[in-house]
This record gives sequence, C-alpha cells and structure tokens, in this order.
Amino acid sequence: MAVDNCLTHVAIIMDGNGRWARSHGLKRIDGHKAAEKAIHDAVQYCGEMGVEYLTLYAFSTENWKRPKAEVLFIMTLLKSFIKRNIDDLDGNRVRIRATGRLDDLPRGPLKELRNAMIRTGSNEGLNLILALSYGGRAEITDAMRKIALDIKAGRMQTSDITEDTITSCMYHPDVPDPDIIIRTSGEQRLSNFLLWESAYSELYFTDVLWPDFRRVDLEEAFKDYRSRRRRFGDLDSDR
Ligand code: FPP
Repeated sequence: MAVDNCLTHVAIIMDGNGRWARSHGLKRIDGHKAAEKAIHDAVQYCGEMGVEYLTLYAFSTENWKRPKAEVLFIMTLLKSFIKRNIDDLDGNRVRIRATGRLDDLPRGPLKELRNAMIRTGSNEGLNLILALSYGGRAEITDAMRKIALDIKAGRMQTSDITEDTITSCMYHPDVPDPDIIIRTSGEQRLSNFLLWESAYSELYFTDVLWPDFRRVDLEEAFKDYRSRRRRFGDLDSDR
C-alpha cells in the first residue's frame, strides 16, 4: 500500500563542509561559505512543499572546541548571512527563529539574529529555525534546571513531572517533533541534535556533502520519507 506521510518539520544536520573544501583544494572556511547555496535551496524547496518548520544544525555546543579562527569565521558568516538574506526571507514570509544557548553567541551576530527574529516574527510562512550553540543534552539539562527551580519554589510537585511537562520546558515547545532528520556527508549519527524531539523521527542519510546538496537531493529524501511506514510503536493499521 502506498504511504504518504505528512511532512511538517524537516531537520537537517549540514555536514561535510570541510571535506567539500578539501576536495576542491580550498580552505575549510570556504566550505562553510559554500554552504549558503544549499541553505537557499532547502529553504525554497521546503517553502514550496508546504513544510512548516525547517531546523538547520548550524553550530553545536561542541563546535566551540574548533580552532578560534574557524569559530570566528562561522559567527561572522552567520551575521553576514542574515544581512544578505533578510529582505528575501522576509519577502517570502519566512519567520526566522533560533534554538540553543543563544547567549553564548558573540554580541554582533546575536544582535543581527535578534533583529531578524523581531522583524520576521509575525510572518506566517516557513519557520526557519537556526540551531546555534545547540546541544540536545544541553537542552535537556536546561529543562531539568527549570523543573528543579519550579519544584524548589513550590510551583510544582515531583509527581507532576510527565513527558508533557518535560516537553513544555524544551526551548520551543510549540514546534512539533521533526518528522525527518537528514544528515549529509555519509556520517550516520545524531551528534547531539534534537535528542528529546527525535524519539520517532525518520532518519535519512546521504553521502552528498552539504555544499553540494540541492533541491533534487531534498526531493529524493522526501520521496524516501513518504514511502516509509511510521508506526510510533503501534501496529500497522492495515494488519
Ligand atoms: C559541518 O561541516 C558544518 C558545521 C559544523 C558548521 C555549519 C555551518 C554552516 C552550514 C555555515 C554557517 C551557516 C549559517 C547560517 C550560520 P564540517 O565542518 O564538520 O565538515 P567536515 O565534517 O567535512 O569537516
């Protein structure tokens, strides 16, 4: 029987920029620069397909361990990416959002990001969520701290803790869990991405390096996803 799963939230681990650069005889930072075209394609195609949320893993809590110059480059790129694209994104009704420990970001990029979030806050098209200084374990840790504080202040009892209360303490409780998590570059792991939210996400891995990832690759991922049987631990409905 043909399956046609709905596709509300797409999350992508944009991996392989460094290897792409090396294979072209370029520096790692050139790989990050080349990532922009793939981001454009993903935003455009997801918008056209009626996807409501696109989360892009742009910088993890672990990425701060990279050489200072590379970190600085990515942060500068974040700021210039927003500056270059804000008019187009806003014109296309894209709502820019971010997830992660945003206060870790340098002042300049953070200001640009916050302004973009304010400017596009009432847009009703695609929610483009940039995961920045994001870690799944950090998010769960921050949720546990919130719950502990609520219990300490008497606002909550230990017996009130349920999966729903934990979900409500995540960074964006209004965002549905990702239907599909795509990782490029042939690596097959989650690398601390959306650990709580990915419980029943479909995982899709491709060898394509992120700077080479185009709408045809996304089309293929969506086609594969639509053919899968999602059971969420239940039995097939036609069994
Ligand atoms: C993974 O490739 C990529 C990153 C850790 C950084 C992602 C950054 C971008 C896509 C550009 C920034 C865009 C915005 C909007 C801020 P890698 O460097 O780990 O590649 P490798 O595994 O081949 O070394």
